[in-house]
Order: sequence, then C-alpha cells, then structure tokens
Amino acid sequence: MFDSGIGGLTVLREARVLMPERHFIYVADDAGFPYGPWEEPALKAHVIELFGKLLAEHDPEVCVIACNTAFTLVGADLRAAFPHMPFVGTVPAIKPAAERTRSGLVSVLATPGTVKRAYTRDLIQSFASQCDVRLVGSERLAPMAEAYIRGESLSDEVVRAEIIPCFTDENGRKTDIVVLACTHYPFMANLFRKLAPWPVDWLDPAEAIARQARRLVPPLETLAPGEDIAVFTSGAPDFSTRRLMQGFGLRVV
Ligand code: DGL
Repeated sequence: MFDSGIGGLTVLREARVLMPERHFIYVADDAGFPYGPWEEPALKAHVIELFGKLLAEHDPEVCVIACNTAFTLVGADLRAAFPHMPFVGTVPAIKPAAERTRSGLVSVLATPGTVKRAYTRDLIQSFASQCDVRLVGSERLAPMAEAYIRGESLSDEVVRAEIIPCFTDENGRKTDIVVLACTHYPFMANLFRKLAPWPVDWLDPAEAIARQARRLVPPLETLAPGEDIAVFTSGAPDFSTRRLMQGFGLRVV
C-alpha cells in the first residue's frame, strides 16, 4: 500500500476489512512528501526509481497505489516498467460522481498535481461531459491532514478557506457532490462536513479501491504468515508518526 504520506491509511483501513487474512506493507514516501507541488517529469522519474527498490526488497503480491497524485501521473509507466506486478490504482472518482449528481454540479478536491493531470481531464471528458466539474487544487490540505491525524488542531477558518471554492451556487442550483481526490482528505471528512456551507456528498473511493485489490488477491483459509509493517523513505518518522502507525497495527521498520 503506497502513498506519499499517511493518506493511504484511509485505503488500508478498508483493505483490512475486505482482506483480514492478509498482511500489508504500508509505504510512505515521506522523503518526497508532499507530491502535490512536484513537477511532472521529476515526480515520474522519482516514483519509478523508488518502485525499483521497493519491489526488489518487499516483493508483494499486489501493489495498491493509494495516491491520486502519483497514480494519475505514473500509473501507466509503473505497469510498463514492472509488467509482472499487478497494480491497483487510485484516480479521482469522477465517474461515480457524474452518475450520482442531481444538480450536475460536481467538484473535485485534490492536490495541485492531480488537478493539472491530463488523466483527470480525460476522466471528465469521458465520463462527466454532461456535468459542470470544478477542479479545486489545494496545496495546503494534505499537509494539514497529516497534522490533524497526528493530533494537532486546525483553525476552522483556514480549513474552510481550502474547501470553500468547491461550493458553487448558480441561481439555486448547487454543488451536491465533492470528490475527495486525495487519499489524505477522508481523514478530515468530519471537519469538512462541519464547515461546509451546505450538505454535500463527500465521495471517498477507499472502499472501491480495496474491493479492486481484493479481486486480485485470492482469499486464504487461514491468516497468512508474517506481520503488518510500515516503511518510511526518510528512514526517520517522528514520534507522533510512529505512534500513529502503532495505532494502525503497523510496525515501523
Ligand atoms: N495522498 C496523495 C493523493 O492521494 C497526495 C498527497 C501529497 O500531496 O503528497 O493525491
């Protein structure tokens, strides 16, 4: 389970429910966090190189890229570079949002990287051309989510400022779905609900991603041998991060 930081834990949570007999290696590229502001060619080269090392070291059955910012850019290259490894990706849930919206006004809350991606534009063109889709890229929310999940408090005003561009009211026709297109954001969903100017459906794709991974991993009768571990590319996660990992039942190696 791979992410730039701790956002992929929102997917791990769901994956554990569906694959209780399996063990997980959680990888956070905290040395590269946040991915949002990276230039595309540099991020692409970085992730491919990192996966060369990670796959050689850990050799998992399946890789879940629990990061929109990475997968929308590098997904195809990862599959080409490592053809024997099954990859499950994370992309903005634009298709389900377009199917569900009643007002036709959908917002996609993501990192600045994900909103820039050709992949994201293609999803809108292919599946949501009948909707008004507003792309909202926040540079601050992923780092804020990291702070929040580690127990730091955030100012309502600061968080509200990040989500408010998602809300459009066109003569009473209002945004009714906000796609959480960064795996960090579901950790803040309760805060978003509290601060939203009106109720919307906050679409979290974590369960769908976990279901896709389950389809690729054959069920076992008994618990697989081994343990759940967390790997940090910095090699030095701080105390609160270690404690968080412990709470998730992951031993930091
Ligand atoms: N969790 C990542 C995502 O789903 C992004 C966080 C970052 O900026 O690194 O897009």
